[in-house]
Formats: sequence, C-alpha cells, structure tokens
Amino acid sequence: MSSPGVFSSHPSSMTNFAVSDEELPAFTDMPFEDIEELPLEHPGATDMEYRKRRDYIASLAKKFRETGVITDVDYNEDEQNVWRYVANELEELHQKHASPFYLKAKKDLGMSNDRIPQLSEMTKRLKETTGFRLAPIEGLVDTRAFLSWLSWRTMLSTQYIRHHSRPGYTPEPDIVHEAMGHIPMFTNPNFADYSQFIGHGARIATDKQIEELGRLYWFTVEFGLVEHEGDIKAYGAGLLSSFGELKNAFSDNVVRKPFNLEEVINTDYDYSDMQPLLFVIPSYAELKEQTRRYIESFGK
Ligand SMILES: [Fe+2]
Repeated sequence: MSSPGVFSSHPSSMTNFAVSDEELPAFTDMPFEDIEELPLEHPGATDMEYRKRRDYIASLAKKFRETGVITDVDYNEDEQNVWRYVANELEELHQKHASPFYLKAKKDLGMSNDRIPQLSEMTKRLKETTGFRLAPIEGLVDTRAFLSWLSWRTMLSTQYIRHHSRPGYTPEPDIVHEAMGHIPMFTNPNFADYSQFIGHGARIATDKQIEELGRLYWFTVEFGLVEHEGDIKAYGAGLLSSFGELKNAFSDNVVRKPFNLEEVINTDYDYSDMQPLLFVIPSYAELKEQTRRYIESFGK
C-alpha cells in the first residue's frame, strides 16, 4: 500500500514543539488494509458475534476520521473481563519489571485494572502533559504512514479488543496493547520527543531508511529496555502488554545488549516468535539525542 501524498512534504525542522489541531493533516486521507478480512489464525475469525462487534468498533474510528471527535466505546462485560484478566495477570510482573516511569504514568492517566480506559480520556491527559494525542484507527496502515503521524505528535490507536477465548494473545494491535503498552509512555517528555523525531524521519526517509526506522521502533517503542538505578526495566509496549514476552525478556533465553543505534537499525527481527535479543537504553534523553543526530543525517 502506498502512503498518502500528505506525508511526502519535508518537515520544517527537527523540532519537538507542540502541534496544534489546525496543523494536523486530514485524517480522511488515510488508507487502510481491508479489516473485514480476518485471517483464519485470528481467534475471533469464526465467531460471527465477535466480528460484528469488532466491525462496529472499527466503524467508530471511521466516524472519527470524518468528524475529528472520538466516540467512547460502550464496552460490554465480556470485553471488560478480557481487560481485567490481562491487567491482573500482568500486575505482579509490572511491579517487578516495568519502568518506574511507566508505573507512575499509568496512575497519572487514571488507568485501572477494572475497566477499559477510553481514548478520549487518555488523549485529554496526554495533551495536558506532553501535547501528544491519540487518533482512533480501524486497522493497519503502512509503516511510513503510521510512523509519519508521530511527527504531528499523534499516535494512531485501535479501540477494539482481542477475542475472549485467548485473552493472553492477539495477532493484531488492540486496546489492551495500545493502552497497557503504548499510551502511558507518551506522558514522558523525552519519549514523546523521541517518537516525534521518528515521525519526522519517516516523512523524508528513503525506503531503506524506513526499514531502519521500523527496526528502531521495534527495538525501542515495542521491545525496549531501559537502565534504572543499576537495574534493567521494560518500557516497550510489546513487553508491557504481554505476560509471555515480559517474562521472557528477563529470562536467560534473552540476550540483553547495551543500545547501539547503528546495530539496532541493522538488526532483523521476527515478530512471530518470542524475542531472543533486546537492547537496553541508558536513558530516554540519550535515546532522543542519538535519534536526533541519526534523523538529521537523512537526505545529506
Ligand atoms: Fe505496538
């Protein structure tokens, strides 16, 4: 799928300033993969009731792209139970392994283990703290388009939830992955700026550089580890939203290496299996500065 023309313009500079609503590109131009096609390995693929519900929640995102207003989802009891199950399963592991920043951010965002948070509440809090915002999406967009939105301090986020038959697993992003994994970290100013720099890069990257940015995103935003007072903690969404991945990350099955940007952008990964290799950043500020220098080299 090609990315929309709106993303091809050169970002004015490597700034990390707030982006006003008026400066945002139109959400209506966003192309999507056909989300009504659920692959057979999706646990909800043959559950017609689930598919109807997922399509309905996706339609709310479609509505957002026309109106710019986030519709809250009236999650049913089955859906709330999926959230409660995952949140409670993860609680102990989070206390042990999650970055202290993340734990605090969850509280600051008013998240609880008892109920699925609404994107409207979280985007309001994010805007107040780091000027980041959330935009509901109905399915997958290509890497360049997805990352480019970060340039406008905007994270595209799904609202539907995984199938209740396998609450510990999802083959696609869902509200558990977004809210439990991604969203709290955007309250960190350095992490928010870092994400915006990736977005700036994505708008001007060559195809090879987009691949590199995809790897950088993978080994940080999705599977990143960070040093904290002589210890190692998790801040990546793929770790924080998955019991299996988080446990694995701190086991002997994983090689944990100091973050090296050059190595990260040249390291392939396999998204279908547990991660055997993870990178540890010294701090969010250092990650931001190294990335700034890397993106500034684009086009030179
Ligand atoms: Fe993710």
